[in-house]
Amino acid sequence: MAYRLGNPAGIYTREVPDILGIETSCDETAAAVVRSGEQIVSNVVASQIATHSPYGGVVPELASREHLRAIVPVVRQAMAEAGKSYDSIDALAVTQGPGLAGALLVGISYAKALAFALDKPLIAVNHLEGHIHAVLLEHRQKGGFAAELNFPMLALVVSGGHTHLYLAEQSAESWTYQNIGRTRDDAAGEAFDKVAKLLGLGYPGGPVIDKLSAHGDPGAVKFSLSQMKHADRKEKSSPPRPTSRKSGETWGTPGIETPGPESGRPRFDFSYSGIKTAVLRYVETHNMKETIERRRKALTAVSKPKVEDWLAHCDRETLNLVASFQRTMVEDLVSKTLAAARAYDVATLFVTGGVAANQELRQRFEQDAEQEGVPVFFPSRPLSTDNAAMIAAAAYPKFLANDFAPMEFSAEAGLALR
Ligand code: KG4
Ligand code: ZN
Repeated sequence: MAYRLGNPAGIYTREVPDILGIETSCDETAAAVVRSGEQIVSNVVASQIATHSPYGGVVPELASREHLRAIVPVVRQAMAEAGKSYDSIDALAVTQGPGLAGALLVGISYAKALAFALDKPLIAVNHLEGHIHAVLLEHRQKGGFAAELNFPMLALVVSGGHTHLYLAEQSAESWTYQNIGRTRDDAAGEAFDKVAKLLGLGYPGGPVIDKLSAHGDPGAVKFSLSQMKHADRKEKSSPPRPTSRKSGETWGTPGIETPGPESGRPRFDFSYSGIKTAVLRYVETHNMKETIERRRKALTAVSKPKVEDWLAHCDRETLNLVASFQRTMVEDLVSKTLAAARAYDVATLFVTGGVAANQELRQRFEQDAEQEGVPVFFPSRPLSTDNAAMIAAAAYPKFLANDFAPMEFSAEAGLALR
């Protein structure tokens, strides 16, 4: 049963529909109201960083519990900041997956109950499609993309749970995606988080490493390419494999339809577990463990460390290691993405997801993509990391197409994007 089948009564005829988006796939409880897929009316994000920080990664059970605590106040705040009554919302949208099953279920159960009580349609959104639509939302807000967006478009979705390359096409209100690359082990954000944890820098690692890298020499430590690369290959379809962001945690990795070898289409896969081991080996061979332990203790005592606090506890060797790690990650992400852009002759490049907030990654993409003659677009930093505005924005084309979720839909930890 659909919440609204074809909207025959024509109830939702307003030209500027407002969609309430809800996102709970990982460690952010978020709600937002977005008008016509292009104007953020409100955008509330409650982060669980303080809860997970002592563990150096997301603990799924704690994430579900925190979502349960936060979901009602966060949605209320989004509605209040939008100055909207529940009745005046045109539809609800919620993340179906991929993500942590328990965390997803909190948002889905709440959204279903609210949609049912309000008799409003509910739209199920793929989290990765949300990240891609964050780029569209960002630029449409500023009046960009008024002219046609040129296709094929290649999107790098790079976050704590994902490192994926999607070719995207749009036909009328319908978007389709083809995966042409993914990480074979750790996601890029996961590597930032694990390396930061290893160096006693806290969680999440990406923002800290981003800030500290500016103070180190990125050429100081050479990570050999064999630690980072394996040949791009044409492969058969493979089943989704769970990736661990933290030991004991099972993270839904999206199922992927890959072109078969007969298609002759190249793939551009990533691998980031090797560099984490390389950093560990560097730490061991350079006897850095004691310094790291001292730093970990000192930083745990600071409630909200700022860059000065991190700098005060980092010697040159650590800063150089951090900067070299980031440079290697950035070079790999940029070079593989641009190689894919060339191979598929793409007209537009999107870079999105938490790691897209990285300063060096943005600069490098802007510089190298310009040389290739491919325009590259990012979301603003707040829209790069998880938020619900991107979910409401991705729901808008589905709203126009009356593509509503059936009542029995549920969380899909490994939901594929197609
Ligand atoms: O998209 P996101 O909020 O959640 C997932 O869908 O995973 O991404 C979070 C990830 C974390 O791994 C975090 O360390 C990373 O994005 N991240 C960064 C930066 N800001 C967040 N990585 C590198 N540089 C940053 N500035
Ligand atoms: Zn995300």
